[in-house]
Amino acid sequence: MPTSPSLWNTAPTSPWAQRKNRYVPGTSAHPAKMFPALAAHAIRTYTHPGDLVLDPLCGIGTTLVEAIDLGRHALGVEYETRWAHLARLNAAYAEHRGGTGTATVHHGDARRLTTLIPEAFHGRVDLVLTSPPYGTSAHGRVRSTRESGKPGVAKWDHRYSRNPTNLAHVSNDQLLGAFTGILTQCRTLLRPGGTVVVTARPWRERGELIDLPSAVLAAGRTAGLIPTARCVALLAGIRNGRLVPRPSFFQMKNVRDARREGIPLSVIQHEDVLVFTRPALLPWSRDTEPRGVDPKNC
Ligand SMILES: C[S@@+](CC[C@H](N)C(=O)[O-])C[C@H]1O[C@@H](n2cnc3c(N)ncnc32)[C@H](O)[C@@H]1O
Repeated sequence: MPTSPSLWNTAPTSPWAQRKNRYVPGTSAHPAKMFPALAAHAIRTYTHPGDLVLDPLCGIGTTLVEAIDLGRHALGVEYETRWAHLARLNAAYAEHRGGTGTATVHHGDARRLTTLIPEAFHGRVDLVLTSPPYGTSAHGRVRSTRESGKPGVAKWDHRYSRNPTNLAHVSNDQLLGAFTGILTQCRTLLRPGGTVVVTARPWRERGELIDLPSAVLAAGRTAGLIPTARCVALLAGIRNGRLVPRPSFFQMKNVRDARREGIPLSVIQHEDVLVFTRPALLPWSRDTEPRGVDPKNC
């Protein structure tokens, strides 16, 4: 396995540029997509061609597309019909473009992950790559009065759905409880020694920092996974030796408002990347599971 620095340069170009001609129209409507370069970096670092990657909260399928393009096979689960449909279209497009991997998308509730994923895959996943949903305050696209000619700021594409049971819409405690359950089931699906990579951003509620990454670390431990690394994936570019931030409209607004009131907030320009492993089998037992599984053949 190649060595990899803990700082991931995953935004050399904007996410829009990273997706251009690689994802189907409509993809941009999802409010919280993973940067494609981040998914690709994780997949390259923690898997080999032919390996199996799972995203239990797959959205429009960034993990699946990047896996296919890198010759890995992928399984995705998504709760919302709209995003599951786009994930399927994006995966099909990646295969059509010449990606040598394959992917299957399951539409359903990741809280029932082990019943959704066929038993043939249990214990055979090499990498789980995912990110939990979280509140909508920093998501979405906007148009100012100057741009639209209408009073007020127009905001759109800032919701996962209107479904109150989507994990994005439950309380923080419920989200963490459900996420711990999902990670516990991921452990069953992983091969011994397999890797889990979770990306998470801290955010703020009424000015207070909500440390989601630390909560994810605790969730992984409770799920019986072993934490092995904590990395930083840049959401800012680097140009001429300087960081080029890419904040959202709402991030900028919130930080400016806070600073005006004397609260020294910074614009968050990174994702925390939490890396775990499923404990390997004890030395006297044998791992006989074959590597390299094509979901379409099971
Ligand atoms: C942070 S987004 C993932 C985005 C994805 N990485 C991408 O790039 O498109 C989390 C996703 O989890 C989905 N979700 C929420 N609750 C879920 C559940 N119970 N089961 C499966 N998916 C769920 C949301 O609809 C959302 O699309």
